[in-house]
Amino acid sequence: MSAFSLNHVYESQQFDRSLLDIVFSTADEMKADLQTRDRQHADALKGKIMASLFYEPSTRTRFSFESAMARLGGAILTTENAKEFSSAAKGESLYDSTHVMCGYADVIVMRHSEPGSAKTAAEVSTVPVINAGDGSGQHPTQALLDLYTLKDSFSNIDGVSIAMVGDLKYGRTVRSLSYLLTKYDKIKIYYVSPDVCRMDDDIKTYLTQNQIEWAEEDDLTKVLPLVDCVYMTRIQKERFHDPEDYVHAAGKYILDLKKVQMMKADAIIMHPLPRVDEIPQEVDQDPRARYFEQALNGLYIRMALLKLLLDQ
Ligand code: CP
Repeated sequence: MSAFSLNHVYESQQFDRSLLDIVFSTADEMKADLQTRDRQHADALKGKIMASLFYEPSTRTRFSFESAMARLGGAILTTENAKEFSSAAKGESLYDSTHVMCGYADVIVMRHSEPGSAKTAAEVSTVPVINAGDGSGQHPTQALLDLYTLKDSFSNIDGVSIAMVGDLKYGRTVRSLSYLLTKYDKIKIYYVSPDVCRMDDDIKTYLTQNQIEWAEEDDLTKVLPLVDCVYMTRIQKERFHDPEDYVHAAGKYILDLKKVQMMKADAIIMHPLPRVDEIPQEVDQDPRARYFEQALNGLYIRMALLKLLLDQ
């Protein structure tokens, strides 16, 4: 019997340490299962249907969720671009769409441009809703796979120091990851960003309230030798209201090979992807680069979440 008590996944604050342990041990089980010939979980979700409703573009989140559902024997309802090809284009509200979709599917995976939209959908839905990214709000399943990757690398997340670099104002991944890191001890977070996209005060206040040490730093080279993980992010052109702010921010932090040499020998480089120019391709060969492994971990984490939500 699973002690997984969530009905929906819409924000990182829903998780405590025991729920995180359940997700990670289930992800371990999924990973191991995929490597066996006689898979035990191949039909775990047979007869279940997942609707993937993506109102914003995605490669990793959408396809890893769809792959996860397929690898567990379930079926998928999907649309290439829900903003254009669902009735949202005719003005249908998220409230109405959710009301309807939960009659057709057993779980709804949703990406939307409005912060808080997944939580709103969850309040209406009779089936689990999973937030696959809500504008500049949160991306909790990304944060879970990020932590899983940290756990893989350091076995113990307690005591890890991490630099989050780039677009911290509009970046939902760094917001969700910051929330989840408060569940661990002796964490230190360095926020490194251009002036125009600093981490918002709500997160900094939350960290302080939860006794997490954090600092802001402008100079990436000062932080590189100090941390166990450099978490790079893309400057998200599409979220800037003022094009001049984007010009000011773009290209400020590039983790090239010269900078990588300033990192600790056993530190790791993560990135939620997609990247633009903040990590040149030449860095991919460095053994500290973990972003492709991180993306693959998304498959195991999302298999785990679907199984935990649907196979109770
Ligand atoms: N990391 C992430 O959310 O990637 P996608 O936008 O491709 O889903």
